[in-house]
Amino acid sequence: MSASKHGDGMALAENEPRPDLLAIFNEQFPRGRGAIVMARAPGRVNLIGEHTDYNEGFVLPVAVDREVYVLGQRRPDDRVVVHSANFNRRASFELDALGLATRQSWINYPQGVADALQRAGHHLPGMNLVLWGNVPLGAGMSSSAAVEIACMLVFERLAGIELAPRDDALLAQRAENGFVGVQTGIMDQFISRLGVAGHALLIDCRSLDYRAVPMALPDMVLGVVHSGVPRGLASSEYNDRRRECAEGVELLKEYLPDIRALRDVSPAEFALVEGRLPDTIRRRCRHVISEDARVGEAVEALGVGDTTRLGELFAASQASMRDDYAITVPEIDTLVELARAHGAVAARMTGGGFGGCTVNLVPEGNWERFERGIMADYPARTNRQPTIYRCRAVDGASLVPVGSSLSS
Ligand code: GLA
Repeated sequence: MSASKHGDGMALAENEPRPDLLAIFNEQFPRGRGAIVMARAPGRVNLIGEHTDYNEGFVLPVAVDREVYVLGQRRPDDRVVVHSANFNRRASFELDALGLATRQSWINYPQGVADALQRAGHHLPGMNLVLWGNVPLGAGMSSSAAVEIACMLVFERLAGIELAPRDDALLAQRAENGFVGVQTGIMDQFISRLGVAGHALLIDCRSLDYRAVPMALPDMVLGVVHSGVPRGLASSEYNDRRRECAEGVELLKEYLPDIRALRDVSPAEFALVEGRLPDTIRRRCRHVISEDARVGEAVEALGVGDTTRLGELFAASQASMRDDYAITVPEIDTLVELARAHGAVAARMTGGGFGGCTVNLVPEGNWERFERGIMADYPARTNRQPTIYRCRAVDGASLVPVGSSLSS
């Protein structure tokens, strides 16, 4: 999630064309034998439903056309050798001695996935791998989930196993939680695996049922803007929010004994008892409970193309993340304000928080004005450089026939 988690603070060449990954593979591993397998997995932007996933609630993310590619080939020993084509670096690990994650290194992701698969009882062969992606790092667009899911598909194919897509997502989440060490929910891995082109996915994070909701917004651009704020404290603050929510559930059980998670509390029920909670816990719970309700309303608004209502819901979500959940930063608040001033009909922070990106719905006719306005005003107000991504909703991860055109 954070740039530092990938180590080195290096940025990906986000707008560079995809290199010839097969040529890179053959150059890196000239003596390899056997079939080369390739998979792609997208990053994501969450339309609404922030920090609701680990409260067993609802989310509405979109898989976007910024993707990670992984190529792999079996090798005869128990080693996994990984070449990062973005960083031009090589690292490796032994399958029978996975050990503790090296802190802050990109190798943790493939290693975490191997660990999760092995713990689930699957036998993996040694492998040579090449990784490349253009999901921006540390931007809150889930580059790590995309790496995990693309690795998962390649590892499974090379090991001759095939898991259900939901199990891929659950195991990749386990890799993130157990091996990488951030107690994230299921949203990012789930959407990267199961996204549907042209749609957002309404996910029930308790049952893992989901429904593809058409992005029926003609002439509307899905714009993602990176604030340029590094998300240094993201992991510890994230884990703090999880603890505060769990504490809220315990306290609320005194009045609502049947609840298991904040998802089980309706806004009306909460209004009756919130006064009994300590202020911080009350505000954390209020964000989650109101945000879950907003997801339902946003699905309805999306269904009828009601962008005015979506704008209101995004604004309410933003205020709730800022005032109750305390996960925005001043730069993000400024970015949201500027987006609305420069033609977006809806804007809010997306992802884990403490920096990262905003998600914006911008009428096609306003797009140029939006880009120009943000590029001029945001640096002037914050001294930071924004990056603007015009995104398309794409399908979740898939194997890609090697040698086929990579321009999906
Ligand atoms: C991060 C986590 C997700 C989710 C979001 C906040 O992206 O990985 O599981 O909790 O933050 O909605």
